Amino acid sequence: MKLRTFGTLSQPVSEVGLGCWQFGGDFGPMSDSQALSIMAAAVEGGVNLFDTADVYGGGRSESLIGNFLATHSGSPIRVVTKYGRDGSVFPDKFTEASMRTAVDAARRRLRVDVLDCLQLHCIPIAALREGAVFDWLRSLKAEGAIREFGASVESVEEGLLCLRQTGIASLQVIFNLFRQKLVTDLFPQAQAAGVSIIVRLPLASGLLSGRYMKQTTFTEGDHRNYNRDGQCFNVGETFAGIPFETGVELADEIRAMLPQEMTIAQAALRWILDHDAVTTIIPGASSPDQVISNVAVSDLPPLSDELHRRLTEYYYSKVAQHIRGPY
Ligand SMILES: NC(=O)c1ccc[n+]([C@@H]2O[C@H](COP(=O)([O-])OP(=O)(O)OC[C@H]3O[C@@H](n4cnc5c(N)ncnc54)[C@H](OP(=O)(O)O)[C@@H]3O)[C@@H](O)[C@H]2O)c1
Repeated sequence: MKLRTFGTLSQPVSEVGLGCWQFGGDFGPMSDSQALSIMAAAVEGGVNLFDTADVYGGGRSESLIGNFLATHSGSPIRVVTKYGRDGSVFPDKFTEASMRTAVDAARRRLRVDVLDCLQLHCIPIAALREGAVFDWLRSLKAEGAIREFGASVESVEEGLLCLRQTGIASLQVIFNLFRQKLVTDLFPQAQAAGVSIIVRLPLASGLLSGRYMKQTTFTEGDHRNYNRDGQCFNVGETFAGIPFETGVELADEIRAMLPQEMTIAQAALRWILDHDAVTTIIPGASSPDQVISNVAVSDLPPLSDELHRRLTEYYYSKVAQHIRGPY
């Protein structure tokens, strides 16, 4: 597993991390033992960064990670978590007191004294512009309650705003073969500012695994069912904002362009890692086997320049017009 520098954390992070939203049950039911075996496979494969949030399963994702950390004290796992989407504060009741309460609750659930990194969790642009949230984060860092802070954002405009904030270590963004414009519109600025990039939805909620058919269905509690067209939250967080049936067709066309020696999921992840501005990708996984396949991508060779050129051309001519939601 190759490592990349993250903010001022003394240890670099694995370029393949683990997304832990699914432990909250938003990809269908997941038992404690399934979640623990997914984390074990990740650490076995060299992953040292987990991404979670206070709201995933109402704290269940953080608690399961806390249980895992308690039995893996020798593994230097960094956990990045989030504040800002709990119904008590979102969308316009953010206060320093509520952020401090959230930090304490996350520390308890994760069973750590200090949070490695606290990210704002897609809070409205007005709150990013107003800026007080960043003052609170700087205070928490100065006091030693958090090591780093960052922001998970939905649009380039939000990302550029956050880059202006002193001390911000990371931006978490949606970036994948279906969402390429950050290469030109955000990554150069992030690199110039020395801000790490955490990539969420690297597989467009699984569409870029090429496993789904138009008739594939998802269970009631899975956001790929209940938020398929953005009924509950930003449509971009589900299938990267691409209508499902269109995404299945696009994934099939992309598959035909890829090298035979890797799966489409691996090629999609490799494509992301080939961008220097990216610090880590955080694919979710519903099984240890998926984790094993995802961590293997770190050892695969980069895609050819010619394939990168074709995939960029394909995105601008065939994909970009289908993206819905803030971008
Ligand atoms: N607002 C935010 O800040 C925000 C929003 C969304 C996500 N996130 C973070 O980003 C992480 C990743 O995003 P995500 O899980 O939504 O999307 P994702 O990583 O693009 O997709 C995950 C899904 O891809 C499929 N998959 C994973 N590895 C595979 C493999 N090797 N082969 C075949 N299929 C594979 C699985 O689908 P099946 O379930 O069908 O097996 C899995 O559930 C989340 O866990 C969370 O930590 C943050």
